Amino acid sequence: MKWKPELEEFLSGKTEGEVFEKSTIFNILKLMNKGEVETIDFPISTGKEGNVFRGRKGKQLIAVKIYRINTITFRNISNYLKYEERLPKKRDRRSIIYAWAQKEFSNLKKLYDAGVRVPEPIAMEGNVIVMEYIGDEEIAAPLLKDAEINDARKIFEEIVENILLMYQKAHLVHADLSEYNILVWDEEPVIIDVGQTVRRSNPMAFSFLERDVENLVHFFKKFFPVEKDYVMKKLQEDEHEVC
Ligand SMILES: Nc1ncnc2c1ncn2[C@@H]1O[C@H](COP(=O)(O)OP(=O)(O)OP(=O)(O)O)[C@@H](O)[C@H]1O
Ligand SMILES: [Mg+2]
Repeated sequence: MKWKPELEEFLSGKTEGEVFEKSTIFNILKLMNKGEVETIDFPISTGKEGNVFRGRKGKQLIAVKIYRINTITFRNISNYLKYEERLPKKRDRRSIIYAWAQKEFSNLKKLYDAGVRVPEPIAMEGNVIVMEYIGDEEIAAPLLKDAEINDARKIFEEIVENILLMYQKAHLVHADLSEYNILVWDEEPVIIDVGQTVRRSNPMAFSFLERDVENLVHFFKKFFPVEKDYVMKKLQEDEHEVC
């Protein structure tokens, strides 16, 4: 899909396009004018709160995550704000979604800079996030739950390493980690969906960390015996080594 015809169609009122609300289109156009997005090709995933598209920036494949503004429900909004330490000043629907996207983008940056394997953040504008695309021309990387796994132990240990880096170096806890938010590409796990990620100083952080570890252990138990304590001990053992 080339963007310009889509825009014309939208403005002439032919497209229903709940994803392509006017402000979304303007945000994408801004990203295009800045050269961060060249084309938006097709949706990789359509969720309740937003859609992810594959696109291009020059020769590079990109993932474009677009949060919906108009169809977001009050329940989702209150979910967004539940564990926030600092609430956005403006509380209208659009400001809240923009603040949420901004949070996901800045979490991605912090994690990427700390060496956690997450998609590289590229750019953002309003409710639109542009990041490294995980996959190739033919297919997007599968979620851990659907991936063909040859060496489960290796993938598990790499995820644990990433959780340690997140906690100790980036001082963040994912808070929604499971086989649904980890991609696997070239036998390597890539952690995604970091909008709800909280700071380690958040009073809920430790219980979120325990829940993340429980989810992970629950999934990998299908492949080999492993307990939550194995990971929690590692977190405590390594604690004094990383400052
Ligand atoms: N960088 C990426 N590269 C390839 N695919 C991606 C990327 N980011 C997200 N996806 C795909 O898009 C889906 C949705 O992304 P994400 O988990 O970040 O959003 P979400 O808000 O949780 O949406 P959902 O409710 O559908 O899970 C992922 O499950 C994954 O299949
Ligand atoms: Mg997700």
